[in-house]
Amino acid sequence: MSGQKIAVIPGDGIGTDVTAAARTVLDAVAAKHEIDLQYTEFDWSCQRYAEVGAMMPDDGLDTLRGFDAILLGAVGWPGVPDHVSLWGLLIPIRREFRQYVNLRPIRLFPGVAGPLRTDADIDFVVVRENVEGEYSEIGGRLNRGLPDEIAVQESVFTRVGVSRIADYALELARTRRGHVTSATKSNGIVHTLPFWDEVVAERAARFPDVELASEHIDALAAKFVLHPERFDVVVGSNLFGDILSDLAAAVAGSIGIAPSANLDPSKQNPSMFEPVHGSAPDIAGQGIANPVGAVWSAALMLSHLGHAAAADDVIAAMESTLAEPETRTRDLGGTASTEQVTSALVARLR
Ligand code: NAI
Ligand code: MG
Repeated sequence: MSGQKIAVIPGDGIGTDVTAAARTVLDAVAAKHEIDLQYTEFDWSCQRYAEVGAMMPDDGLDTLRGFDAILLGAVGWPGVPDHVSLWGLLIPIRREFRQYVNLRPIRLFPGVAGPLRTDADIDFVVVRENVEGEYSEIGGRLNRGLPDEIAVQESVFTRVGVSRIADYALELARTRRGHVTSATKSNGIVHTLPFWDEVVAERAARFPDVELASEHIDALAAKFVLHPERFDVVVGSNLFGDILSDLAAAVAGSIGIAPSANLDPSKQNPSMFEPVHGSAPDIAGQGIANPVGAVWSAALMLSHLGHAAAADDVIAAMESTLAEPETRTRDLGGTASTEQVTSALVARLR
Protein backbone atom coordinates (compact mmCIF):
# COMPACT_ATOMS: atom_id res chain seq x y z
CA MET A 1 0.00 0.00 0.00
CA SER A 2 1.59 3.32 -0.94
CA GLY A 3 0.92 7.00 -1.29
CA GLN A 4 -1.99 7.41 1.10
CA LYS A 5 -3.10 11.05 1.30
CA ILE A 6 -3.52 12.64 4.70
CA ALA A 7 -5.20 16.02 5.29
CA VAL A 8 -3.73 17.70 8.35
CA ILE A 9 -5.73 20.36 10.21
CA PRO A 10 -3.70 21.52 13.26
CA GLY A 11 -6.41 24.04 14.28
CA ASP A 12 -5.95 26.29 17.30
CA GLY A 13 -3.90 26.57 20.49
CA ILE A 14 -2.10 23.37 21.48
CA GLY A 15 -3.69 21.71 18.43
CA THR A 16 -0.71 23.00 16.43
CA ASP A 17 1.89 21.69 18.94
CA VAL A 18 0.44 18.21 19.30
CA THR A 19 -0.18 17.84 15.57
CA ALA A 20 3.46 18.70 14.85
CA ALA A 21 4.47 16.07 17.42
CA ALA A 22 2.19 13.46 15.82
CA ARG A 23 3.67 14.26 12.39
CA THR A 24 7.20 13.78 13.71
CA VAL A 25 6.28 10.41 15.21
CA LEU A 26 4.48 9.37 12.02
CA ASP A 27 7.55 10.27 9.95
CA ALA A 28 9.70 8.05 12.17
CA VAL A 29 7.36 5.06 12.12
CA ALA A 30 6.62 5.43 8.39
CA ALA A 31 10.33 5.39 7.59
CA LYS A 32 10.82 2.27 9.68
CA HIS A 33 7.89 0.39 8.12
CA GLU A 34 8.35 1.87 4.61
CA ILE A 35 4.90 3.42 4.56
CA ASP A 36 4.27 6.21 2.07
CA LEU A 37 2.05 8.92 3.57
CA GLN A 38 1.54 12.22 1.71
CA TYR A 39 0.47 15.17 3.83
CA THR A 40 -1.37 18.37 2.92
CA GLU A 41 -1.78 20.92 5.69
CA PHE A 42 -4.79 23.26 6.04
CA ASP A 43 -4.94 26.41 8.20
CA TRP A 44 -8.63 25.99 9.02
CA SER A 45 -9.10 27.40 12.51
CA CYS A 46 -10.58 30.13 14.68
CA GLN A 47 -7.75 32.36 13.50
CA ARG A 48 -9.00 31.90 9.94
CA TYR A 49 -12.53 32.63 11.20
CA ALA A 50 -11.34 35.87 12.77
CA GLU A 51 -9.62 36.89 9.53
CA VAL A 52 -12.14 35.88 6.85
CA GLY A 53 -15.34 34.94 8.71
CA ALA A 54 -15.33 31.16 8.15
CA MET A 55 -13.58 28.21 9.78
CA MET A 56 -12.98 26.61 6.38
CA PRO A 57 -13.56 27.59 2.73
CA ASP A 58 -16.96 26.96 1.11
CA ASP A 59 -15.54 24.01 -0.81
CA GLY A 60 -13.65 22.68 2.25
CA LEU A 61 -15.57 19.42 2.45
CA ASP A 62 -15.10 18.75 -1.29
CA THR A 63 -11.37 19.30 -0.82
CA LEU A 64 -11.21 16.80 2.04
CA ARG A 65 -13.18 14.17 0.13
CA GLY A 66 -10.13 13.25 -1.93
CA PHE A 67 -8.04 12.27 1.11
CA ASP A 68 -7.65 8.86 2.74
CA ALA A 69 -7.75 10.28 6.27
CA ILE A 70 -7.88 13.53 8.22
CA LEU A 71 -5.59 14.26 11.17
CA LEU A 72 -6.93 17.06 13.35
CA GLY A 73 -5.42 18.87 16.35
CA ALA A 74 -8.13 20.86 18.13
CA VAL A 75 -10.28 23.84 17.32
CA GLY A 76 -11.67 26.57 19.56
CA TRP A 77 -10.35 29.90 20.77
CA PRO A 78 -11.58 32.62 23.12
CA GLY A 79 -13.52 35.23 21.17
CA VAL A 80 -15.04 32.71 18.77
CA PRO A 81 -18.15 31.05 20.25
CA ASP A 82 -17.60 27.29 20.68
CA HIS A 83 -20.73 26.45 18.68
CA VAL A 84 -19.25 28.37 15.73
CA SER A 85 -15.96 26.46 15.79
CA LEU A 86 -17.72 23.12 16.31
CA TRP A 87 -20.53 23.51 13.77
CA GLY A 88 -18.25 25.33 11.31
CA LEU A 89 -15.72 22.51 10.99
CA LEU A 90 -15.89 19.36 13.13
CA ILE A 91 -19.57 18.52 12.92
CA PRO A 92 -19.88 19.11 9.14
CA ILE A 93 -16.87 16.81 8.61
CA ARG A 94 -18.33 14.07 10.83
CA ARG A 95 -21.72 14.24 9.10
CA GLU A 96 -20.71 14.79 5.47
CA PHE A 97 -18.29 11.86 5.63
CA ARG A 98 -20.73 9.62 7.52
CA GLN A 99 -18.28 9.12 10.36
CA TYR A 100 -20.94 7.45 12.43
CA VAL A 101 -18.54 5.81 14.89
CA ASN A 102 -16.65 7.86 17.44
CA LEU A 103 -14.14 5.45 18.92
CA ARG A 104 -12.42 6.35 22.18
CA PRO A 105 -10.03 3.80 23.68
CA ILE A 106 -9.27 4.20 27.39
CA ARG A 107 -6.26 2.70 29.17
CA LEU A 108 -4.58 3.28 32.48
CA PHE A 109 -0.93 2.96 31.42
CA PRO A 110 1.67 1.52 33.77
CA GLY A 111 3.32 4.36 35.64
CA VAL A 112 0.44 6.79 35.14
CA ALA A 113 -1.27 7.70 38.41
CA GLY A 114 -4.98 8.03 37.74
CA PRO A 115 -7.18 9.93 40.16
CA LEU A 116 -8.78 6.74 41.51
CA ARG A 117 -5.81 5.39 43.46
CA THR A 118 -6.15 2.05 41.73
CA ASP A 119 -3.68 -0.01 39.77
CA ALA A 120 -6.45 -2.16 38.30
CA ASP A 121 -6.14 -3.07 34.64
CA ILE A 122 -8.34 -0.42 33.05
CA ASP A 123 -8.64 -1.12 29.32
CA PHE A 124 -11.88 -0.43 27.49
CA VAL A 125 -13.29 1.35 24.47
CA VAL A 126 -16.19 3.78 24.32
CA VAL A 127 -18.09 3.54 21.02
CA ARG A 128 -20.13 6.70 20.63
CA GLU A 129 -22.83 7.16 18.00
CA ASN A 130 -21.53 10.21 16.15
CA VAL A 131 -24.09 11.54 13.66
CA GLU A 132 -27.61 11.43 15.12
CA GLY A 133 -29.28 11.08 18.53
CA GLU A 134 -29.43 14.11 20.77
CA TYR A 135 -27.15 16.24 18.54
CA SER A 136 -29.80 17.11 15.99
CA GLU A 137 -30.61 20.40 14.35
CA ILE A 138 -34.35 19.77 14.62
CA GLY A 139 -36.01 22.21 16.97
CA GLY A 140 -36.06 25.90 17.67
CA ARG A 141 -36.80 28.75 20.00
CA LEU A 142 -39.97 30.77 20.22
CA ASN A 143 -40.77 34.05 21.93
CA ARG A 144 -37.11 34.93 22.43
CA GLY A 145 -36.50 37.11 25.46
CA LEU A 146 -40.15 37.01 26.59
CA PRO A 147 -41.40 35.43 29.81
CA ASP A 148 -43.06 32.64 27.80
CA GLU A 149 -39.89 31.84 25.82
CA ILE A 150 -39.50 28.16 24.93
CA ALA A 151 -36.74 25.99 23.46
CA VAL A 152 -37.39 22.59 21.88
CA GLN A 153 -34.81 20.15 20.54
CA GLU A 154 -35.71 16.79 19.09
CA SER A 155 -33.59 13.67 19.50
CA VAL A 156 -33.38 11.50 16.40
CA PHE A 157 -32.82 7.76 16.69
CA THR A 158 -33.12 5.66 13.53
CA ARG A 159 -33.15 1.90 13.09
CA VAL A 160 -30.30 2.19 10.60
CA GLY A 161 -28.29 4.44 12.90
CA VAL A 162 -28.71 2.37 16.06
CA SER A 163 -28.18 -0.95 14.22
CA ARG A 164 -24.89 0.05 12.65
CA ILE A 165 -23.38 1.48 15.84
CA ALA A 166 -24.48 -1.62 17.79
CA ASP A 167 -22.96 -3.87 15.10
CA TYR A 168 -19.69 -1.95 15.24
CA ALA A 169 -19.52 -2.35 19.04
CA LEU A 170 -20.44 -6.05 18.91
CA GLU A 171 -17.86 -6.78 16.22
CA LEU A 172 -15.21 -4.87 18.16
CA ALA A 173 -16.02 -6.86 21.32
CA ARG A 174 -15.39 -10.05 19.33
CA THR A 175 -11.78 -8.93 18.82
CA ARG A 176 -11.43 -8.10 22.53
CA ARG A 177 -12.93 -9.70 25.66
CA GLY A 178 -16.39 -10.33 24.22
CA HIS A 179 -18.41 -7.96 26.38
CA VAL A 180 -20.59 -4.98 25.39
CA THR A 181 -22.25 -2.58 27.83
CA SER A 182 -25.00 -0.46 26.30
CA ALA A 183 -25.74 2.92 27.93
CA THR A 184 -29.43 3.67 28.27
CA LYS A 185 -31.97 5.61 30.28
CA SER A 186 -35.11 3.84 29.15
CA ASN A 187 -36.72 4.34 32.53
CA GLY A 188 -36.82 8.13 32.13
CA ILE A 189 -36.66 8.78 28.37
CA VAL A 190 -39.67 6.76 27.29
CA HIS A 191 -39.55 6.74 23.47
CA THR A 192 -36.05 6.93 22.06
CA LEU A 193 -34.17 4.86 24.61
CA PRO A 194 -36.52 1.87 24.81
CA PHE A 195 -36.16 1.88 21.00
CA TRP A 196 -32.36 1.99 21.38
CA ASP A 197 -32.53 -0.94 23.83
CA GLU A 198 -34.73 -3.01 21.50
CA VAL A 199 -32.56 -2.48 18.44
CA VAL A 200 -29.31 -3.12 20.35
CA ALA A 201 -30.76 -6.36 21.76
CA GLU A 202 -31.91 -7.45 18.27
CA ARG A 203 -28.44 -6.92 16.87
CA ALA A 204 -26.80 -8.64 19.84
CA ALA A 205 -28.91 -11.73 19.16
CA ARG A 206 -26.83 -12.13 15.99
CA PHE A 207 -23.65 -12.27 18.08
CA PRO A 208 -24.23 -15.21 20.43
CA ASP A 209 -20.54 -15.17 21.37
CA VAL A 210 -20.76 -11.61 22.74
CA GLU A 211 -22.32 -10.85 26.11
CA LEU A 212 -24.54 -7.75 26.25
CA ALA A 213 -25.40 -5.78 29.39
CA SER A 214 -27.65 -2.73 29.42
CA GLU A 215 -27.03 -0.12 32.13
CA HIS A 216 -28.75 3.15 32.96
CA ILE A 217 -26.44 6.07 32.31
CA ASP A 218 -26.48 7.37 35.89
CA ALA A 219 -25.51 4.04 37.43
CA LEU A 220 -23.03 3.47 34.62
CA ALA A 221 -21.29 6.78 35.37
CA ALA A 222 -20.85 5.67 38.98
CA LYS A 223 -19.47 2.28 37.87
CA PHE A 224 -16.92 3.97 35.61
CA VAL A 225 -15.47 5.45 38.80
CA LEU A 226 -15.97 2.48 41.13
CA HIS A 227 -15.15 -0.47 38.82
CA PRO A 228 -13.62 0.80 35.58
CA GLU A 229 -11.73 -2.48 35.13
CA ARG A 230 -15.03 -4.31 34.48
CA PHE A 231 -15.66 -2.73 31.09
CA ASP A 232 -14.62 -3.95 27.65
CA VAL A 233 -16.71 -2.17 24.98
CA VAL A 234 -19.24 0.49 25.99
CA VAL A 235 -21.72 1.70 23.36
CA GLY A 236 -23.78 4.84 23.78
CA SER A 237 -25.79 7.46 21.94
CA ASN A 238 -24.15 10.69 20.84
CA LEU A 239 -24.71 12.56 24.13
CA PHE A 240 -24.17 9.61 26.49
CA GLY A 241 -21.03 8.56 24.60
CA ASP A 242 -19.66 12.09 24.67
CA ILE A 243 -20.02 12.44 28.43
CA LEU A 244 -18.89 8.91 29.26
CA SER A 245 -15.75 9.19 27.17
CA ASP A 246 -14.58 12.35 28.93
CA LEU A 247 -15.27 10.70 32.28
CA ALA A 248 -13.37 7.63 31.16
CA ALA A 249 -10.43 9.74 29.94
CA ALA A 250 -10.24 11.38 33.36
CA VAL A 251 -10.33 7.99 35.10
CA ALA A 252 -7.33 6.96 32.98
CA GLY A 253 -5.20 9.84 34.23
CA SER A 254 -5.35 12.80 31.87
CA ILE A 255 -7.39 14.12 28.99
CA GLY A 256 -3.98 14.81 27.42
CA ILE A 257 -3.49 11.14 26.52
CA ALA A 258 -7.01 10.31 25.29
CA PRO A 259 -7.35 9.64 21.53
CA SER A 260 -10.35 9.42 19.26
CA ALA A 261 -11.26 8.23 15.80
CA ASN A 262 -14.29 9.43 13.84
CA LEU A 263 -14.82 6.49 11.51
CA ASP A 264 -16.74 5.74 8.37
CA PRO A 265 -16.24 1.97 8.66
CA SER A 266 -17.33 1.52 5.02
CA LYS A 267 -14.17 3.49 4.07
CA GLN A 268 -16.14 5.26 1.32
CA ASN A 269 -15.22 8.59 2.94
CA PRO A 270 -12.15 9.76 4.81
CA SER A 271 -12.17 9.11 8.56
CA MET A 272 -10.85 11.70 11.03
CA PHE A 273 -8.44 11.18 13.91
CA GLU A 274 -8.08 13.70 16.75
CA PRO A 275 -7.14 13.82 20.41
CA VAL A 276 -10.13 14.15 22.74
CA HIS A 277 -8.81 17.35 24.34
CA GLY A 278 -9.43 20.85 23.07
CA SER A 279 -7.10 23.76 22.23
CA ALA A 280 -6.21 24.40 25.92
CA PRO A 281 -5.77 28.20 25.72
CA ASP A 282 -4.46 28.12 29.33
CA ILE A 283 -1.25 26.35 28.28
CA ALA A 284 -1.07 27.22 24.56
CA GLY A 285 2.26 28.50 23.24
CA GLN A 286 4.23 27.19 26.23
CA GLY A 287 5.48 23.97 24.64
CA ILE A 288 4.17 21.84 27.52
CA ALA A 289 1.11 20.14 25.98
CA ASN A 290 1.03 16.38 26.28
CA PRO A 291 1.39 15.04 22.71
CA VAL A 292 0.32 11.48 23.59
CA GLY A 293 -3.40 11.96 22.80
CA ALA A 294 -2.52 13.17 19.30
CA VAL A 295 0.13 10.48 18.83
CA TRP A 296 -2.26 7.72 19.91
CA SER A 297 -4.86 9.17 17.49
CA ALA A 298 -2.22 8.93 14.75
CA ALA A 299 -1.74 5.26 15.71
CA LEU A 300 -5.50 4.71 15.31
CA MET A 301 -5.15 6.30 11.87
CA LEU A 302 -2.31 3.94 10.92
CA SER A 303 -4.38 0.99 11.96
CA HIS A 304 -7.43 2.23 9.98
CA LEU A 305 -5.20 2.69 6.92
CA GLY A 306 -4.03 -0.92 7.14
CA HIS A 307 -0.72 -0.47 8.96
CA ALA A 308 -1.39 -2.48 12.12
CA ALA A 309 2.26 -3.30 12.85
CA ALA A 310 3.25 0.37 12.66
CA ALA A 311 0.34 1.30 14.94
CA ASP A 312 1.46 -1.32 17.49
CA ASP A 313 4.98 0.11 17.37
CA VAL A 314 3.72 3.61 18.16
CA ILE A 315 1.65 2.30 21.07
CA ALA A 316 4.64 0.41 22.46
CA ALA A 317 6.72 3.61 22.26
CA MET A 318 3.95 5.48 24.10
CA GLU A 319 3.80 2.83 26.81
CA SER A 320 7.52 3.02 27.44
CA THR A 321 7.70 6.84 27.54
CA LEU A 322 4.69 7.02 29.88
CA ALA A 323 6.35 4.48 32.18
CA GLU A 324 9.35 6.81 32.73
CA PRO A 325 8.78 9.82 35.02
CA GLU A 326 11.28 11.96 33.06
CA THR A 327 9.31 11.60 29.81
CA ARG A 328 5.95 12.63 31.25
CA THR A 329 4.41 16.07 30.77
CA ARG A 330 3.06 18.27 33.56
CA ASP A 331 -0.55 17.07 33.30
CA LEU A 332 0.83 13.66 34.43
CA GLY A 333 2.93 15.13 37.21
CA GLY A 334 6.14 15.23 35.15
CA THR A 335 8.27 18.11 33.86
CA ALA A 336 8.95 17.10 30.23
CA SER A 337 8.13 19.46 27.37
CA THR A 338 6.14 18.45 24.29
CA GLU A 339 9.40 18.32 22.36
CA GLN A 340 11.16 16.10 24.92
CA VAL A 341 8.32 13.57 24.88
CA THR A 342 8.28 13.62 21.08
CA SER A 343 12.04 13.02 20.87
CA ALA A 344 11.73 10.16 23.35
CA LEU A 345 8.97 8.58 21.25
CA VAL A 346 11.07 8.90 18.09
CA ALA A 347 14.14 7.45 19.84
CA ARG A 348 12.12 4.37 20.84
CA LEU A 349 10.86 3.90 17.30
CA ARG A 350 14.37 3.72 15.84
P1 NAI B 1 -9.37 21.54 26.84
O1 NAI B 1 -9.37 20.08 26.58
O2 NAI B 1 -8.77 22.40 25.81
O3 NAI B 1 -8.64 21.82 28.23
C1 NAI B 1 -9.12 21.33 29.47
C2 NAI B 1 -7.97 21.28 30.49
O4 NAI B 1 -7.10 20.20 30.17
C3 NAI B 1 -7.09 22.54 30.47
O5 NAI B 1 -6.67 22.83 31.76
C4 NAI B 1 -5.92 22.13 29.60
O6 NAI B 1 -4.73 22.80 29.91
C5 NAI B 1 -5.81 20.63 29.90
N1 NAI B 1 -5.30 19.92 28.72
C6 NAI B 1 -6.01 19.62 27.61
N2 NAI B 1 -5.25 18.98 26.73
C7 NAI B 1 -4.02 18.87 27.28
C8 NAI B 1 -2.78 18.31 26.84
N3 NAI B 1 -2.65 17.73 25.63
N4 NAI B 1 -1.72 18.39 27.68
C9 NAI B 1 -1.83 18.95 28.88
N5 NAI B 1 -2.97 19.50 29.36
C10 NAI B 1 -4.06 19.45 28.56
O7 NAI B 1 -10.90 21.95 27.08
P2 NAI B 1 -11.53 23.40 27.30
O8 NAI B 1 -10.62 24.27 28.08
O9 NAI B 1 -12.89 23.15 27.80
O10 NAI B 1 -11.70 23.98 25.84
C11 NAI B 1 -10.78 24.89 25.22
C12 NAI B 1 -11.24 25.12 23.79
O11 NAI B 1 -11.11 23.89 23.05
C13 NAI B 1 -12.69 25.55 23.67
O12 NAI B 1 -12.76 26.52 22.64
C14 NAI B 1 -13.41 24.27 23.25
O13 NAI B 1 -14.57 24.50 22.50
C15 NAI B 1 -12.35 23.60 22.41
N6 NAI B 1 -12.51 22.15 22.32
C16 NAI B 1 -12.27 21.59 21.10
C17 NAI B 1 -12.33 20.24 20.94
C18 NAI B 1 -12.00 19.67 19.61
O14 NAI B 1 -11.43 20.33 18.78
N7 NAI B 1 -12.33 18.42 19.36
C19 NAI B 1 -12.67 19.34 22.04
C20 NAI B 1 -12.85 20.02 23.31
C21 NAI B 1 -12.79 21.38 23.42
MG1 MG C 1 -16.62 16.01 24.46
